Amino acid sequence: MNAISVNNLTRDYGTLRAVDHISFEVESGEFFGFLGPNGAGKTTTIRMLTGLSEPSEGTASIMGCDITRDAFHAKEHFGIVPEVSNIYEDLSAWNNLMFAGELYGLSQPERTRRARELLEIFDLTGFRDKKAQGFSKGMRRKLTLAMALIHEPEILFLDEPTSGLDVQSSLLLKEILSRLNREGTTIFLTTHMLEEANTLCNRVAIIVKGRLAAVDAPEKLKKTIQTTQSVEVSLDSMTSQVTADLTAIKTVTSSRHEGDKFRLFTPDPAVVATAIFEYAQAHRLKIISINTVGPSLEDAFLSIVQRQGDSRTEGRP
Ligand SMILES: Nc1ncnc2c1ncn2[C@@H]1O[C@H](COP(=O)(O)OP(=O)(O)O)[C@@H](O)[C@H]1O
Ligand SMILES: [Mg+2]
Repeated sequence: MNAISVNNLTRDYGTLRAVDHISFEVESGEFFGFLGPNGAGKTTTIRMLTGLSEPSEGTASIMGCDITRDAFHAKEHFGIVPEVSNIYEDLSAWNNLMFAGELYGLSQPERTRRARELLEIFDLTGFRDKKAQGFSKGMRRKLTLAMALIHEPEILFLDEPTSGLDVQSSLLLKEILSRLNREGTTIFLTTHMLEEANTLCNRVAIIVKGRLAAVDAPEKLKKTIQTTQSVEVSLDSMTSQVTADLTAIKTVTSSRHEGDKFRLFTPDPAVVATAIFEYAQAHRLKIISINTVGPSLEDAFLSIVQRQGDSRTEGRP
């Protein structure tokens, strides 16, 4: 059975279509990434899937339970780490966990057992009676995650779980998520960071402006990423001869003007940057600015759509 099944799910806010007829499936045991730039519709989707917001159109089910008609049973199967923390600031870590356990209908002994276990797993045992308001961002995120796991759900939804965390807390959180997934939890994670989706997920859906652009393995996405790295350069003279010479640099796949800058796409920005320095020196040109630019999500999106278009026409007469 699919853990999550989404069919033409749509959500309108007035005249704005935040999510536009998206369909996809997540298998049990997958680490699924839901990737898209800010405002793409990730939170809206996760809110619909977790019963916090009504779809305008379409359906979805969690472990076979329809999210609107059978919301009660659907909820037994998942935990959610929302974008905005759901911790009660003036409750202790322990009481936050007790409260979450009650919400999920766990018995007193069950709640106690799970809370002890989770405090241990998340290294929060020493803080069990401290109020959450004094916690660091990393500790808060861990507590939110512990609360989401209190009823041992099969599926875990997380909305940009690493946003705002320092590098160390973010790494730790990713390790915990990977371990949970190895132990069998299905994970649905939203992020606007390509690299994060790349390192964590088995499969990634890309959403842009409410529409699903692709559902693919991250290796394929990685290829796209590599071809969309670029070097942005501005020289004091940008004649057509100069731009033609720059475009001819080894490994440059394409180029374009962007305002007063010239952008060179390449899988190897370091090589191109070095070649630009040499070229400028040889031709006595001054470099006004030079930057290596990672791929924007829109770049990845565009090239994915392009690739899909190409493969669709392949093999046709
Ligand atoms: N409650 C709301 N009312 C009106 N518009 C909303 C609401 N929530 C989200 N939106 C709009 O829907 C779009 C998608 O938002 P969201 O799902 O939060 O994107 P993401 O999580 O990918 O950044 C955005 O244009 C956003 O402004
Ligand atoms: Mg969001």
